[in-house]
Formats: sequence, structure tokens, C-alpha cells
Amino acid sequence: MTSKSSTKIAESKVSFFRSDLKDKHAPTIDIIPRKHMVALNEGCQDPYQLIQKDFLNRLDSLSLNRYISPTSDLLHQKLADYAGVPKEQLLFGNGADDMLYHLFLAVRENAQSFALSLAPSYFDYATMCGAVDLGIRFLDMRSDFSFDVERYIELAQDPNCRLAILCNPNNPTGNLLPKDQIRQILTALPDKLVVIDEAYYEFSGFSFVSELDKYPNLILIRSFSKGFSAAGLRFGYAISSSQNIAELWKTQITFHTSVLVKAFALSILENKELFLEHVQQIIVLRDKLYRDLKELPQLIVHPSATNFLTFSLAGKSDDLYNDLQEHDIAVRNVGSHPALQNCLRVSISCEEAVNAFRDQVKAYLVK
Ligand SMILES: Cc1ncc(COP(=O)(O)O)c(C=O)c1O
Repeated sequence: MTSKSSTKIAESKVSFFRSDLKDKHAPTIDIIPRKHMVALNEGCQDPYQLIQKDFLNRLDSLSLNRYISPTSDLLHQKLADYAGVPKEQLLFGNGADDMLYHLFLAVRENAQSFALSLAPSYFDYATMCGAVDLGIRFLDMRSDFSFDVERYIELAQDPNCRLAILCNPNNPTGNLLPKDQIRQILTALPDKLVVIDEAYYEFSGFSFVSELDKYPNLILIRSFSKGFSAAGLRFGYAISSSQNIAELWKTQITFHTSVLVKAFALSILENKELFLEHVQQIIVLRDKLYRDLKELPQLIVHPSATNFLTFSLAGKSDDLYNDLQEHDIAVRNVGSHPALQNCLRVSISCEEAVNAFRDQVKAYLVK
């Protein structure tokens, strides 16, 4: 029998891991769950409840004892049809984050390599770059969310810059970047990969997919977490030239995505109209909430091409955040960058949550 003291694991003086990891943190999420979870740009609608029958029928013909499943090919083709590209131009994986992670892994050449992003932008670019020891540099947006495109190009022209990231529409500002500026970047950087993160594509209704033939340096990343409301599923994909996709594929492990996830993603695509109709309802809700918040003179609210709105309340955003928490509503604080000083972000997840949020903001303002 092992005594209690002998089960204590000795701490090693040796570092078994990459030395840069010492100064890095594991990914954590600072959200306290509430009844109305409007912090992480999720939907309220659980896709399992919607398409359970289709999925369960599909499960009957799955073999969980096998590595190889015909579901992979079926899904690959169906997804390529949805994206409007040949199958060789598409690679899928476990969420947009997983695709980005592998992209960062695939472009890193050496310790000097870095990616360039606008700031503020999606928080996890820095986390994932850190995980693969790819540096990350930022160009600050102005307070109206415009940016100096010439400067962006200049920074990306550094020989160590391996990837230019553009989040379109941008999280957490919510805006679409000007098309002409994106084209200017793609044209000025023919020897750099430019990734456009289109995680919110279904809400913006805008994509650069039709311009892939024009720009061999372009790669798009998409997600099932937003437009298909399937954040827990973990499914996303990359679209680019077949040559770029073939290179990116080399960083993937052989059997990376669970056959259950693939079967569910296939069911989503077979029923895509249900989800895309819901996206239209969310857009109507978002625009209505935008107009309602605009009517409150104390609030500043930013237009959005996504499923969230970013807003602030001069000097009192933190207090409003706490008040919403106390009333069972979790929004996200996104105010760490000067262009978004004091800003909070609310996800447009469903009518009930949006109404609860609007009512509580109004109640707070008349306190
Ligand atoms: C801009 C952006 N990209 C990627 C992701 C991650 O998507 P996924 O859940 O598919 O990993 C998010 C999630 O919030 C996002 O906002």
C-alpha cells in the first residue's frame, strides 16, 4: 500500500517544456455564467434540439470502431458546395480557432517570425500565436475603427512578418473593414499570406470567397459557432487555393475531427435553411436593439455586422456591468483597448435575452 506522503509528486527543477512557455498563461475565460449568457456571441438556439432526428438517423449508420468514415468525404463535399469552392480548396477542423492555430503553426519559420493584426481584434489571436511561439504585433485602430492602411502594409513588409490577419467583420468592434483597403493589402503583399477571419460571415453576408482566384495569398477562416449557433460542436474550416490548403493540411493530425462532430456538421448543412432563417431573425433583433440603444442619450452604441453590439456608458460601464450581472445577465467587458475604452459587448442571442438586457439597461439608467 502506498502511504500518503509517498504519493506526493516531486517538483522537478528541470524544465521539460519550451522555455517561452514559462511566461505564458493557459487559456482561461473570465465569464461567470448567468441565466442570460450574452457574453460569448453564442446563440440561444441549441442546434441539437432542432435537428436531433436527422442526426440520430445518421448515427445509426456510423461505425465508432473505425478510423475511416464515409462521413468525412460527404461532409467535405457538402461544405465545399456551401462555400462555393471545389473541395480541394477547403479544409475543416475543430472550430475556427483550430484552423487558426494550425495556420499559425504552418507559417512560423523561426523565433523571429510574427503575425500582424489590427487592435482591438479577436483576443485569442495572441493566445494561439503564443501557444506555437509565433510573435504577434498590432496596429492600433483609430477611435472610429478606421486604420492606417499604408502603415499596416509597411509593418507587414518586415521580412519576419509571416501572416497578416484581418478579422472581417471585426470582433469586438463589430464593423466590416473597407473592401478597398483589404484589396490594397492583398495586392501590396503578394509574398505574404493574408488571412481574413470570417467567423461572422453568415451575419455580415459578405465574403472575399469570390476573390480567391485573384489573390493566391488569401486564406479565409469560417466557423459553425456563430451562424449555425453550434459553439459547443467545435467545427470550422479554411478556404484558400488548393496549393495553400495542401500545405496547411500537412500540419493537421491524421484523424483530427470526431466522426460524431462530422455527422452533426453534415446534419446542420442538410438543414441549413433552418439556421440561415434564424440568422435573419437575429439580424432584425440586432438592428432593433441598436436603434433602441441609440435612443438612450447616455449610451454610445456602435453599428455591427455581427451577432453582437458593442456599447459604452460614459464613466459607468463597470457599474452597469455589475448591475447586469446582479440581474442574471452576463455581458463581456471589452474595454481594454483605448479605441474601445469602457466598452461592453452584448451578444444578440435570442429575443428573450435581448429583451431582458434592454429592460435592465433602461432600469439602470433611471435609478
Ligand atoms: C473573430 C473570431 N474568430 C474565431 C472565433 C472562434 O470560433 P470557433 O468557435 O469556431 O473556434 C471567434 C469566436 O468568438 C471569433 O470571434
